[in-house]
Amino acid sequence: MKETNIYETDELVSQYCDFQYGDDYFGVENFAKVCAQKAIGYSKNTQQGKALDLGCATGRASFELALEFDHVDGVDYSQAFIDAAAELQKNGRIIYAQNGEGELKNQILVDMTMYSFRDACVKVAFSQGDACALAEKFSGYDLVMATNLIDRLYQPKLFLSTIHERINDDGILVLTSPYTWREEYTAKKFWIGGYVDEKGKEVSTLEGLKELLESHFELIVTEDIPFVIRETARKFQHTISQMSVWKKR
Ligand SMILES: C[S@@+](CC[C@H](N)C(=O)[O-])C[C@H]1O[C@@H](n2cnc3c(N)ncnc32)[C@H](O)[C@@H]1O
Repeated sequence: MKETNIYETDELVSQYCDFQYGDDYFGVENFAKVCAQKAIGYSKNTQQGKALDLGCATGRASFELALEFDHVDGVDYSQAFIDAAAELQKNGRIIYAQNGEGELKNQILVDMTMYSFRDACVKVAFSQGDACALAEKFSGYDLVMATNLIDRLYQPKLFLSTIHERINDDGILVLTSPYTWREEYTAKKFWIGGYVDEKGKEVSTLEGLKELLESHFELIVTEDIPFVIRETARKFQHTISQMSVWKKR
């Protein structure tokens, strides 16, 4: 992990509060909600006991999963993100500073009573943790969801080659990623795809995922999920993430 973690900054906490609880932009639906709803749908024919939302950021998808699952663990490496999620859960509200232009900010209130998960939110347990070195207690899941996480991990191969140990038989693994591999997050030798191998062959991340996961999982489906992150009043990131859904054999 690099020394300065941008996900610990106030700027990113606010940006992710806006991404997860703020308005939709350009007609693109809330990404965390869409991913959680799809994950719930894909796990309909299995148990919906315990779910793990890895890289949960400020907690929106964990709350959405709690509408169906008996218990949800929301784990993120960033203590600041976990503190924001836990504050919203405990106090029923959080205020974040949304960027305007230059140094101007809008104070935005997130009010838990506005959401369908206002009662279900007590089923979520948030904690700081590392997806590449998860504590033993994070086991026995019917669903593990990791949205936009793998290309931000320092050791995604380690995570992907061991995650089956945490999932029950017939359980579901839902990954999403825009596959934006960057050496500042992941040393190139650990990239899952997005590189040319020693034989000159281009390796896509989906191919790399299959290679790492297929001994324990069956690939059920892939689909594109767009998202928009608001940076300032007039600057937005519009990205297409690929969701892949895996069923444990
Ligand atoms: C691009 S954000 C995605 C957040 C959220 N899942 C979403 O879809 O919007 C990446 C997240 O992964 C978290 N993260 C990075 N490395 C991690 C690790 N080793 N273990 C757990 N979370 C990690 C970051 O703190 C951040 O919240």
